[in-house]
Amino acid sequence: MKLLIISGGSKGLGLALCNQYQKNGFTIVEFSRTAPHPFSVSIDLSSSVDSATVIATALAPLSAVQWQEIVIINNAGTLNPIGPAAKKPRGAVVDNININFTSGLLFIIEALKQFQGHSGKKTLVNISSGAALGGYPGWSLYCAAKAGLENFIAAVALEQDLQAKPFTAINIGPGVIDTDMQASIRKAKVEDFPAVERFIDRKESGELRPPEKVAADIFAISEQSNIENGRRYDAAG
Ligand SMILES: NC(=O)c1ccc[n+]([C@@H]2O[C@H](COP(=O)([O-])OP(=O)(O)OC[C@H]3O[C@@H](n4cnc5c(N)ncnc54)[C@H](OP(=O)(O)O)[C@@H]3O)[C@@H](O)[C@H]2O)c1
Repeated sequence: MKLLIISGGSKGLGLALCNQYQKNGFTIVEFSRTAPHPFSVSIDLSSSVDSATVIATALAPLSAVQWQEIVIINNAGTLNPIGPAAKKPRGAVVDNININFTSGLLFIIEALKQFQGHSGKKTLVNISSGAALGGYPGWSLYCAAKAGLENFIAAVALEQDLQAKPFTAINIGPGVIDTDMQASIRKAKVEDFPAVERFIDRKESGELRPPEKVAADIFAISEQSNIENGRRYDAAG
């Protein structure tokens, strides 16, 4: 029996990942606000401490099962609010950092706690971004959170080296994907996101990849027998 635990599997890349792992025999547990699947758990990651309690409660019964393989994917994310740092309302700043960073950490930490003692193949995947590696004007919070999470995974990977039953912890840059996130980028005002034309061109020139193709690449990476703990992979097709 194989288990996938994923955040943000209601649509976009996360939905494609749920389908990809399900067709390969995985039992799925998915966390999102709209929670559309029979295997979904309803959660709002903008409320980080509350959501950690929901995650812990949902995962506890699963840790009593002996899984031959466990994959954890931290995938939920948002760009909102797009715009210059000094124009962002305080509450929206906190919500963004909770969704993209704090709740992501707590999601990973809860999963590690529940499954650290399990035997078998265990993989922890953080869906990262090019925004973890450099700045984009208008995306300061998203850039900060993605960079922080990548480095969190780097540290967790070193900690896992010291464990008797370690997870393999990796970051994956998914590339540009044809999802609602890209649609919201294209709707941004140029004063909020000066690079908006480049992203409109990417859609028009067919550069955005279908989420199903990216999910297949991520599945192939996570299933590699020689996967490297701590590495940043790219789902480049
Ligand atoms: N699209 C791209 O080109 C691209 C490029 C690089 C990296 N990425 C990364 O890939 C991942 C998936 O992005 P996507 O393009 O698939 O985005 P998307 O279509 O906008 O989906 C985002 C997912 O996150 C969930 N989510 C957002 N806010 C939430 C909240 N407050 N509480 C719980 N769940 C929440 C959404 O579920 P609900 O709305 O149901 O809550 C949804 O399932 C993200 O980490 C993103 O940063 C995307």
